[in-house]
Amino acid sequence: MIHMNPKIVGLGTTFLLLLIFGAVVVAPRYTNPESDRVSDTYRPRTDLEEKGRALYISYGCQYCHTQYIRTIDWDLGADRIAQAGDYARDTSPQLGSNRIGPDLSQEGGEHTDDWHFAHFRNPRWTRPESIMPSFSYLAPEERKAMTAYVQSLGGRSADGRVERQWHWRRQAIAAYQAGVDENIRWLHSKVPDGWLRVPNPYPITDASFKRGEVIYQRHCLGCHGPVGDGQGPAVAEIYPPPLNFTTLKRHGIAGGATGGMLYYQIMNGITGTAMPYFKRELESEKIWDVSNYVARQFIGIVDANQEPKGIDAAFEPVEKK
Ligand code: HEC
Ligand code: HEC
Repeated sequence: MIHMNPKIVGLGTTFLLLLIFGAVVVAPRYTNPESDRVSDTYRPRTDLEEKGRALYISYGCQYCHTQYIRTIDWDLGADRIAQAGDYARDTSPQLGSNRIGPDLSQEGGEHTDDWHFAHFRNPRWTRPESIMPSFSYLAPEERKAMTAYVQSLGGRSADGRVERQWHWRRQAIAAYQAGVDENIRWLHSKVPDGWLRVPNPYPITDASFKRGEVIYQRHCLGCHGPVGDGQGPAVAEIYPPPLNFTTLKRHGIAGGATGGMLYYQIMNGITGTAMPYFKRELESEKIWDVSNYVARQFIGIVDANQEPKGIDAAFEPVEKK
């Protein structure tokens, strides 16, 4: 039997500590073939992106944002599960520990630069219910660097998305500069034909109209404004500016101001502009409800529950004949 004296206890603990160090630090370094192999989406960052990353760390963004998606995070989309090689050249990977805000590992190309400018200045402008603090005190170069860094998250996959944003952005700007009618023609030329002809299948009831109003206030108000004229506060940073819904009136239903058109644009967003997609955030009924709200409140043309509409759903109000 070993007699416990200070010397033995001291030696024993040191030995144990060395063993743990070997198992968790040294062994993985040599046995994990991934440890310094970069992944297929990896690319080195530019100087501006490095500057943005330093700011990201110093402003404490990592206290609210993670940068890794695990297989159990299927609810985040899990479109790309984090790999060791994504972080191979980072001396302090910004994995984060809390998800007070969304995971940012694939943030690059999700939004345009002008969306980020507005969002950093006041997150409530782009997301009226956001609890992210305002970073309006960032100097212009800092905001540029931070945006460049955020747009680089996701490496090569992000580069593809950013490129696509710029591709459509050039066209969206040209269409906007060509005047209201040309802009609307261009916007609607990107909506598949079938959608342009679909009336809104949801009837407008007091409750559904109210729901549409609340959804509008929670998601759209900062850009399209309380009266739908595109003059929400975010207009200060956004170009092309948010659409003025009242201009759709003169294009009429045949010209595309249908429930189906609204649904499609809200669902997919307009890549290349600050208009975000809502297909991951709002379920179908909410998109139809907010479309009805926009149609009645701002455009003044409503095609809700128009014929031919088949048999009404069980919950829908019974019309008196
Ligand atoms: C107190 C927590 C908090 C801090 C600190 C914070 N954020 Fe956020 N962030 C959020 C929340 C909540 C959201 C979701 C709502 C929104 O879009 O504003 C968000 C959203 C975002 C988004 C949009 C993601 C998307 O595509 O929808 C980006 C980009 C972002 N944050 C970057 C940053 C950066 C960069 C910093 C540091 C300068 C930062 N955040 C600091 C909480 C935080
Ligand atoms: C961050 C700003 C922003 C937010 C938030 C936003 N939009 Fe937009 N929206 C835009 C911009 C910018 C455009 C395109 C303007 C252009 O290219 O002329 C647009 C265009 C649209 C269009 C296209 C109309 C057409 O005729 O093609 C619809 C519909 C629309 N928005 C509805 C909404 C709804 C509903 C919400 C809320 C659920 C919303 N938007 C939230 C900025 C925003």
